[in-house]
Amino acid sequence: MSAESPAKKGLAAIKGTHDILPSEVGCWQQAEALARTLFELYGYREIRTPVFEATELFERGTGETSDVVTKEMYTFTDKGGRSVTLRPEYTPSVVRAIIEHRLDLQPEPLRFYYFGPMFRYDKPQKGRYRQFHQIDVEVFGEMDAAIDAELIEMAQAYLAGVGVTEAETLVNSVGCRTCRPAYSRALRQAAEAKKDALCEDCRRKADLNPLRIFDCKIEACRRIADGFPRILDFLCDECRDHFAKLRAYLDLYGIPYRVEPKLVRGLDYYTKTTFEIVSGKLGAQNSLVGGGRYDDMMKDFGGPDICAIGFAMGLERLLSVARLEPPRPRFLYIVTLGEDGKRAGMTLARSFRRAGIECLIEFKDRGLKAQLGRASKLGAAWALIAGEDEVRTGRFQLKDLATGRQVAGTPDELLPVLREQ
Ligand code: HAM
Repeated sequence: MSAESPAKKGLAAIKGTHDILPSEVGCWQQAEALARTLFELYGYREIRTPVFEATELFERGTGETSDVVTKEMYTFTDKGGRSVTLRPEYTPSVVRAIIEHRLDLQPEPLRFYYFGPMFRYDKPQKGRYRQFHQIDVEVFGEMDAAIDAELIEMAQAYLAGVGVTEAETLVNSVGCRTCRPAYSRALRQAAEAKKDALCEDCRRKADLNPLRIFDCKIEACRRIADGFPRILDFLCDECRDHFAKLRAYLDLYGIPYRVEPKLVRGLDYYTKTTFEIVSGKLGAQNSLVGGGRYDDMMKDFGGPDICAIGFAMGLERLLSVARLEPPRPRFLYIVTLGEDGKRAGMTLARSFRRAGIECLIEFKDRGLKAQLGRASKLGAAWALIAGEDEVRTGRFQLKDLATGRQVAGTPDELLPVLREQ
């Protein structure tokens, strides 16, 4: 066998992707379980969509001027000659699913949640990966700003539930198709005046979609953009009223927030409310939760005219600041001696498992001491010994590995002991 490491042979995980190891998975499961329980309390139901979709879905949904579409998509041609893309986000997929299955005609509320991997070809760094995982929530058909506030309240309740403290909520409005054109013109003019100081990408964005200048990560461009006109000064009456109501409802919940007029979010579809929850503990990639309203996507896809709002949070970022302590499993290790002990152990393990007791039986040839040592090392709560005598008498020794206490009995007699915590 070669001693060369898998990484050297090119068998390491691809840059920007990572394994979630068994020692970490408990926190992931707990974060997902808490999300499931909480979101269902608010009337959301899970939906699952494919990991890859027609490229056009994201071009039209996420938006042709967004960095995600222009720079970050994993797009390839499949063997049938179709252009497909590993989803960089989830929102366009759920809109497609609603239209495709006419979910809007069902009696259930259109409130969905989802967990899954997303793919973006961005420069990997702490908190930014090429495969990452989102918990995503979407509501359809609710135009009232009360739902915008409720979503933010739900996101905060979730963060509190997973032990995230020190998170700040930022809100803004990016207007709608009525008021945004005037704002875009004002922004374009401002960008034109500073053209020579802006990067090439921003100059291109000024023509295509000047709002996207606010996404630029270059410090000089960001400083210039700080002096640009603010969308909040351009909102039409309807958008201004919606934003005022959102703020009033956030106050009703007693939710602290900050209005951030540069919060335009990097995706093209937003209308009215945008929001983010950021954490100072995350470093440069400080956005934990990002979301907003996207009232036009469904009808732009040729579906019914149904408004929408949602958010997504990155699980890697969340887990790096959450305080979760998944319960350690309490399990029984069955020690077997000889072929007869092994056979007895196998049937015992089966019946205990059927009774809901977690059991581990290993088949590598080890002596009594080695097996007991292994049971302790693996963190078993109990060890049960199945040796020659036990098999003959039908009575087994059960050892509590934390206290050293031993009880002998038939499997039926031992079951209540195993059940008591
Ligand atoms: P987003 O802001 O692009 O929004 O992503 C949401 C969250 O996903 C971010 O706040 C961050 O926690 C996480 N995230 C994004 N990119 C990465 C990455 N490369 N590595 C690690 N984590 C990342 C959306 O995706 C929208 N679909 C949210 C939405 C739902 N808007 C309406 N509905």
